[in-house]
Amino acid sequence: MQQLKVAIVGCGKIASLRHAPEYSLNPACEIVGFYDVDPSRAKALANQYGGRVFSSINELAASDTDAVSICTANIHHAQNTIQMLKSGKHVLCEKPMATTLDECEEMAHTAEMTGKRLLIGLNQRFMGAHVEAKKRIQSGEIGRPLTFDTRFAHPGPEIWTGMANTWFFDKNIAAFGAMADLGVHKADLLHYLLDEHIVKVHAVTKTLNKRLPSGELIGVDDNCFCILTSESGATGTLHAGWTNYGQEDNSTCIFGTEGTIKLYSDPEHSLIIEHKDGTITRLNPDKQLTNDEQLAGNIRNTGVIDEFIRAITTGKTSRLDASESIFAMRVMFAAAESSKSGTSIHI
Ligand SMILES: NC(=O)c1ccc[n+]([C@@H]2O[C@H](COP(=O)([O-])OP(=O)(O)OC[C@H]3O[C@@H](n4cnc5c(N)ncnc54)[C@H](O)[C@@H]3O)[C@@H](O)[C@H]2O)c1
Repeated sequence: MQQLKVAIVGCGKIASLRHAPEYSLNPACEIVGFYDVDPSRAKALANQYGGRVFSSINELAASDTDAVSICTANIHHAQNTIQMLKSGKHVLCEKPMATTLDECEEMAHTAEMTGKRLLIGLNQRFMGAHVEAKKRIQSGEIGRPLTFDTRFAHPGPEIWTGMANTWFFDKNIAAFGAMADLGVHKADLLHYLLDEHIVKVHAVTKTLNKRLPSGELIGVDDNCFCILTSESGATGTLHAGWTNYGQEDNSTCIFGTEGTIKLYSDPEHSLIIEHKDGTITRLNPDKQLTNDEQLAGNIRNTGVIDEFIRAITTGKTSRLDASESIFAMRVMFAAAESSKSGTSIHI
């Protein structure tokens, strides 16, 4: 079978820690090149993984590359993705999908019109305990989900990027803060686990502690607290935070009529089920890999690249299809609107 020719646009942290190593491990594809506005970054990855350095995004668009990862900063996702789709490439775009709902819709529409795949890098759908939890919720093990509590909070993206004054803090480049960076993962995870969408959002976003070198507070939220309601009426909370200056917290609890599922809340067991009759099942489908562990060189295949290649080669629908990921973005935009207006937003 002929290998798919793949390339990466944006050669920073996520490209180096996940996309490039995961493509290099997948025998169905071959890395043909890299593009970054800073050519030295593209060159560093080309030296490590092979392939060429594209001198411009137009040169990449004109090439015979089959598929492209978009790993640029948020504000560029829509333009980069649409250009690649229109030039005949399948696209895996990092989260958050884009910075406005119109852009997200245009991206999904362009994928449909061009017949090319567009997947979004919402990797929480592949974490072992989440996959196992979905099966168990579907089988009825905790009954009907009634409430939930999900959190993704860590000390902030300046640690991930290694830069005190990271673009994640710049409203003109990131557009949104912790909710776009971390909250979209958890909104998407709720859609995956509950198998239904969030339809009502009440949120408060805050900038409590992150400051620019000038001493001013950053222009985006460093915390977002949401109360969410699903189509069936299940109601719960989501917290996305950049000011948890202890261990990263990436936990989720789903409370059902017959029991509770706790995910990544215990260091020894990534999945715990507390049954209504008092029995407890403790499992460890996988241990959570924190940002700190990834930065220390602990790489684990997230499954996202394998899924992208599988979606292209089989034509089958994917749990990362943009048409589904866009619902997490709707929650994110609704949270911003709710916080601004002080009202609940119906999606
Ligand atoms: N899925 C996840 O869990 C996850 C984790 C971290 C980051 N991300 C996302 O990945 C994206 C990149 O984040 P990062 O942490 O790698 O940031 P980064 O700053 O380390 O890397 C971004 C790279 O893009 C390049 N770039 C910026 N504008 C460009 C343009 N117009 N064309 C080409 N290259 C350009 C920069 O020079 C830089 O090398 C962000 O949208 C972020 O939200 C996702």
